[in-house]
Order: sequence, then C-alpha cells, then structure tokens
Amino acid sequence: MRITDTADLWWKTAVVYCLDVETFLDWNDDGTGDLAGLAQRIDYLADLGVTCLWLMPFYPTPERDDGYDITDFYGVDPRLGTHGDLVEAIRTAHDRGLRVIVDLVVNHTSDQHPWFVEARSSKESRYRDWYVWVDEPPAGKQPEPVFPDQENSVWTLDEQTGQYYLHHFYRHQPDLNVTNPEVRDEIARIVGFWLALGVSGFRVDAVPFFIDPLGEPSGALPDPHEVVRHLRAFLNRRTGDAILLGEVNVPYEQQLEFFGGSEGGELTLQFDFITMQNMYLALARQDAAPLAKALQERPAIPPECQWGTFVRNHDELTLDKLSESERQEVFDAFGPEKRMQVFGRGLIRRLPPMLDGDPDRIRMVYSLLFTLPGTPVLFYGEEIGMGENLDIGDRNSVRTPMQWTSGPGAGFSIAEDLTAPVVTGRFGPEQVNVQAQRADPDSLLTFVKLLISRYRNSPELGWGEFAVLDQPHPAVFAHRVTWEDETLVALHNFAAEKVSVPLDLGDSVRNCDLIDLLGDQNTTVDDRGRLEVELGRYGYRWLRVARPGSRRLL
Ligand code: GLC
Repeated sequence: MRITDTADLWWKTAVVYCLDVETFLDWNDDGTGDLAGLAQRIDYLADLGVTCLWLMPFYPTPERDDGYDITDFYGVDPRLGTHGDLVEAIRTAHDRGLRVIVDLVVNHTSDQHPWFVEARSSKESRYRDWYVWVDEPPAGKQPEPVFPDQENSVWTLDEQTGQYYLHHFYRHQPDLNVTNPEVRDEIARIVGFWLALGVSGFRVDAVPFFIDPLGEPSGALPDPHEVVRHLRAFLNRRTGDAILLGEVNVPYEQQLEFFGGSEGGELTLQFDFITMQNMYLALARQDAAPLAKALQERPAIPPECQWGTFVRNHDELTLDKLSESERQEVFDAFGPEKRMQVFGRGLIRRLPPMLDGDPDRIRMVYSLLFTLPGTPVLFYGEEIGMGENLDIGDRNSVRTPMQWTSGPGAGFSIAEDLTAPVVTGRFGPEQVNVQAQRADPDSLLTFVKLLISRYRNSPELGWGEFAVLDQPHPAVFAHRVTWEDETLVALHNFAAEKVSVPLDLGDSVRNCDLIDLLGDQNTTVDDRGRLEVELGRYGYRWLRVARPGSRRLL
C-alpha cells in the first residue's frame, strides 16, 4: 500500500465528529448555536484530533423533526447563519486539516417544502409526481412507520385531492418519488451545490427507504440500487475523494449490497448498527461473545469501503436488531424505566449515565471503539462524558447544548432562553465540561485525545485484517488487526474482575516486544509466541508488535 492510497482514501482512517450547529455554540447570544460559533470551536476540534466533521441538518426547517424536515435543500437556516458563515466555517476547518461532511436528507421533504405545497394543491400540479401518491394504500402488508409512537401507517390521506401520500417517517415528512428522473436530477444538483461550497461528502439519511419504490407501479425502478450507484458516480466525478456515509440499518447481507457488493461503487461507508447493538448486549452481560460474533459475521467489503463504528448517535440507541429477550436484557441493564425507552426498540440515554458514571467502564468502551476495525464516529459531548436530559423526552434527550464551562448556559450561550435545555444533575455542566477537563490530565477528554492520537498513528485499525483471539475468559474481548508488517493486539475486559489473559500470537511474532500504546507496560512474546496479559477491572490494553526493524514509533 502506497502512501498516496492511504492518504487519498482518507475515510479509511478518519475520526468523524457529529455535531448539530444549533446546540454547539451560540455566538450571537440568541440562545441558538450558530455557524459563527462553530467556526470559533474548530481549533478545539482540531486539538481533539478528529479529522472530519459531520454537520447535522442546518437547512431551513419548521423543526418538527429537529431539522430532518427540510423546506429548502439549498438553504441555510437563518437562525444558524448564512451561506457566507457556512463557507467561513468550512474554510476554517480546512485550514486546520479537517474535512466537513453534511447530512443529505432526500428520502423526504418537510410538508411545508414548496414542492410539496405545490404537489398537494392539485393532481395536475407540476410537482405532483415528485411525491408518491396512491388512491388506496396498497393491498398486503405495508412497512411499519419508523416512528410508531406517532404514526400507525406510512400512508396518509390528503383531504384536498383525495389521494394518499407515502411517508416512511412522520406524516409531515412526505417521501420523494425516487422513480421520477426529475427528482434524481434535483438530488444530483443538491449534491453538486454543497460540493461546490467545499464539503467532502454526505451522511446520507435513511438510504433503504430512499431507494424503496413502494407505491410506484412495478418496474418503475428496475434496479433500485442503481440510484445509489449513479449518485456515487456523480459525486466522484465532481469531487474525486468525496464520500457517502450511509445510514443503513439492515442485516449485514443487505448492507453489502449497499456497498455495491464485492465490486463497490455505492456507499463509501455505512454505520455498523449491528456491532453497536451487540456491544451493548455484551456490556449488559459482561460477556464479550455477542460483540465477537457480530464482528465475525460482518461481511468482507470492497477495500476502498469502510464501516463507521460508533457508541452513540443522535437518534435513539436502537436495539432493533437484537431479539426481544436480548433487547430486554439491555433495557434492564441500562434503561429500565419506561421514560428511558422509546419506540419499543431503543434507549434515549447517553453512555455515561447508563454505566452509572463508572470511569473505568466508560473508558473501556471508548478504548474499544477506537480499536474496532472501521472509522470511529463520535457524537458531540461524548469526549467529555455528557449525559442526557430525560425531561426533554424522546430522541431530543441527547441533543442538549454542548457543555463548555460550568457557568450558566454551560458556556454554550449567555441567553436566558436556550434552544434546548442543558443537562441537569450529575452529568450537568457543573460536573462535566470542557474547561475543567482540558486542565485535568486524568480527564476523559484527555483520555479520548490519547485514543484519537493512537488511532491516527495506527492505520492498521482502518486498513487491517481483523481476527478475534482465542483465550479462556468470556468477559474478555481480545483481537488482532494485521496490515502489511504491522500487528496490533487489543484486549478489553467487560467485567469488573481482574483477569490474567493467556494469548497465543503464533510463531511469526516469537520473541517480539509488545509496545503498550496507552501506557508504559511494554511486554514480550515468548519463544513459542505466547504471553500473558493482565487486565484490571474493565481494563483495556493496546499492544503493538514491534518486529525487528519496525519503524513505527508508538
Ligand atoms: C434518520 C435520522 C433521524 C431522522 C430520520 C428522518 O433516521 O437519523 O434523526 O428523524 O432519519 O429524517
């Protein structure tokens, strides 16, 4: 592998940081975060070490789904700033070596989008066919709406024109008709527009729903995946190294199809929802087996593609791919109260409260995240261990203002009225904030910085071949990634009991030194390729095999 390949395929070893401009930093004191505030914090993000920012939707919106209901795909929500402010923020990011990707939410629009307003005005409207209309909901079993607490069908009757329109999400989010070539052209224009302003790609919302031709005559879209293939080809004609990071929460075999099979050519990256869910099951059981199984079942993907690994995102912590009893185990362990759960499938908490603030255990989870094969994606505030505000309710519980200082408004804003309430209590700004942690060498922030630095110095984590290592302790997850001449061994203890883990690393590393990447406990493999590694309560180790002549420092 040449340096040009590793640098060009930047997403293979990126560290992505997701943030909502609205809740990050308020620079004009109106209680809402803004692009000027984001620009002010680019140095913080560069210092943290992340390499790519993912901006959640910043488009004009009636805010009925926190900005995922858009009324102008080419616009900037005036509360957050202007196109000029956005370009300044992107330019500042580039100057500090950070890329920026943005949410592409084209499965649906807001019902207040001028296209839909026009479309529903009459059956003859010029935009009628931009949405999906039927006289009667199709016979046969229809998909469940994604938000079953509010919707009981994906079809809603439009009184004025007497037809039903499709919406996989809320009824105020009508689905666009992807079988219509005009719609596909418009989406390409949207993509081209933001690329021209300097973004490095898109986090693509709800991809399986987006390409589902439900409600259209059969044959309207002979190969739905062609939509993604064309979009990707267009994207990379315009900007060669831009990416599509897809939200595709489906079984692994289907995810492979969204990469474009073994040939690639569709999504560049996809979030690994299955590993994420099984990680929580493993945490709940204090048994690493579910995590190991998920990773072992993960299909091989084309070399230029990548998995996005994560602990928490902005939505509910979905457990939809676990069995009912497994899901119940996770609920019992981490969100036993009904108010902590949503949609019957997920939790609305962040990690630290779920782990009762246990610093060892929280660190173990982030250490694990950064050693999993893939590109780690952080949600803002994870680096300092923010909690949630359950009083807000639903998915918004985790979308509270970033906690910069212990002051009023968490240093997010000096306004009286904030766009969202801050976290209160044990994980509130008095206890958890950037300013205090920046000054503390033992803080979570300092630790996450170390993880990011080591991850970035260990390209094998993004590129390497992954294998689970056999060892006798069920609570321990031991794995190895190998890439070219580099091997990294990582161990994570899911239980509170200390253990001593015997490992057999094989002949090829006999007598090699193992460099402790997170501390100073270097060790050596014996002349049979074996060693014993001690792990404390919820302990973790990253060990790099130093082969004779290896030039890697850390
Ligand atoms: C995705 C987003 C979610 C949003 C939904 C509808 O699942 O992650 O936040 O509500 O799409 O756009």
